[in-house]
Amino acid sequence: MRILMVCLGNICRSPMAEGILRAKVKEMDLDVYCDSAGTSNYHIGEPPDERARACMKRHGQHIEDLKARQFKVDDFDSFDMIYAMDASNYNNILSLARTDEDRTKVVMILNENQPNQNMEVPDPYFGGDAGFDHVHALLDAACDAILEKIKP
Ligand code: 4NP
Repeated sequence: MRILMVCLGNICRSPMAEGILRAKVKEMDLDVYCDSAGTSNYHIGEPPDERARACMKRHGQHIEDLKARQFKVDDFDSFDMIYAMDASNYNNILSLARTDEDRTKVVMILNENQPNQNMEVPDPYFGGDAGFDHVHALLDAACDAILEKIKP
């Protein structure tokens, strides 16, 4: 199973989602590959935001080595599931979809544990550390639900 996490900048929410899922996959010894990307080109090549890295470190999870990249149409071919953090990401990804198969891969990540609610992972970029901890809690619960469905 190949999973792509997508936000706007690929420096806050989606690298955190990638780090959280990867830590759980390792713990559970599952065959799941996870990557992340941003819909924008704002931060290409940059490591995750310092506050995201610090938040992850508080949870014993490390994302220092990640580098931001932009979502590309090829990602529809490379991944089985594409998780959007908010409605804007969701619409931006869908606008690049070529087929119904592409479209069915795209899901709002919090719908995994709060089905049909279309709840958003709020953008923590313009806030403080509390915003990052809130994002971590939301993503932790969503990642548990994702792996609960996948695990044998
Ligand atoms: P992210 O957060 O989408 O969770 O990585 C943001 C990062 C950067 C910007 C906005 C959101 N920005 O406007 O530069």
